[in-house]
Amino acid sequence: MKILVTGAAGFIATNLIPRLLRNGDEVFGIDNFFLGKREYLAPLLEHPQFHFHEFDLLDLDRLAALIAEVKPDRVWHLCANSDISYGTKYTDFDLKGGTLVTYNVLESMRRAEVKEIIFSSSGAVYGEPTVMPTPEDYGPMLPISLYAASKLACEGLITAYAHNYDIRSWIFRFGNIVGPNPTHGVIHDFVLRLKDDPTYLKILGDGTQAKPYVHVEDCLDGMMFGHATARAMVNYYNLAVTDQTSVNEIKEWTFAAMGLDPKDVKVEYTGGSRGWRGDVAQVKLDTRKMTALGWTPKMSSAESTKRAIRETVEQFARR
Ligand SMILES: NC(=O)c1ccc[n+]([C@@H]2O[C@H](COP(=O)([O-])OP(=O)(O)OC[C@H]3O[C@@H](n4cnc5c(N)ncnc54)[C@H](O)[C@@H]3O)[C@@H](O)[C@H]2O)c1
Repeated sequence: MKILVTGAAGFIATNLIPRLLRNGDEVFGIDNFFLGKREYLAPLLEHPQFHFHEFDLLDLDRLAALIAEVKPDRVWHLCANSDISYGTKYTDFDLKGGTLVTYNVLESMRRAEVKEIIFSSSGAVYGEPTVMPTPEDYGPMLPISLYAASKLACEGLITAYAHNYDIRSWIFRFGNIVGPNPTHGVIHDFVLRLKDDPTYLKILGDGTQAKPYVHVEDCLDGMMFGHATARAMVNYYNLAVTDQTSVNEIKEWTFAAMGLDPKDVKVEYTGGSRGWRGDVAQVKLDTRKMTALGWTPKMSSAESTKRAIRETVEQFARR
């Protein structure tokens, strides 16, 4: 199979691409290194079946030309702006990097008659739901961040393209995904900051924010299983675990993994129940639809988080 991956230098993509290459697929990756890392991509560049293209996905002409030339069997659309602070500061950032980029991907696929898209959405599309754990058919969906608004808009574009142009789609609404090659997120930030200064840690909010953390290996297993098994024109699933992990637990487990005595670290909380405006502080996603399809994650949120902390500490120690 020929597979095109957007956001190819990012966290999830650099865990996905080795799997695709092991399957014998020919993989075409695109990234502009906004958050993606050259060091994560470097080992993949040596593979003869991997072809990397560095450009901004806002360039519709270039993207359409590449997709027309390659004619991939499927697109894994993983590109987005993962930096929430950027998205809040520059109000058109998610509109461009999420929504318009998704339009460009779909439009290029339509022109080249590419018929399958796998999309990384987020549980953030539900906003602050009154039903928890939140099922896929919960409504109304009222996002509270520009990032989540963009994800919801992307889902709408994908379902409209599916209906009008027979592009079969798999939409996965993730919990928090963690593991090797992080580019952002609480584990990434804590480990980097403590490596820089092991005596001080600033925590956004009051540390009680709690979410389901999914290891990237489980995330990719789930996406691949969902793609192979769910055959509707539009397939949409929460991809999460049933337990939650709090920021305070992540803090304690990070101290332990880095060999730090909590007494030696001054912890400062910025306060308030959420990390930042637009942060959904308490997330529980209903996972029964994926379970009914036949898939459950191997690791709990606690196991995923502890493993990802270990992996991040080891990876950053090598830098
Ligand atoms: N990691 C999570 O916890 C999580 C949770 C929910 C949803 N998601 C979604 O999963 C996808 C992958 O997430 P990730 O954690 O790997 O993020 P990431 O930021 O590591 O990867 C996204 C990649 O897209 C690239 N990119 C951004 N804008 C671009 C543009 N205009 N042109 C070309 N490349 C561009 C970035 O450089 C980056 O390498 C994203 O869509 C994200 O919104 C992730």
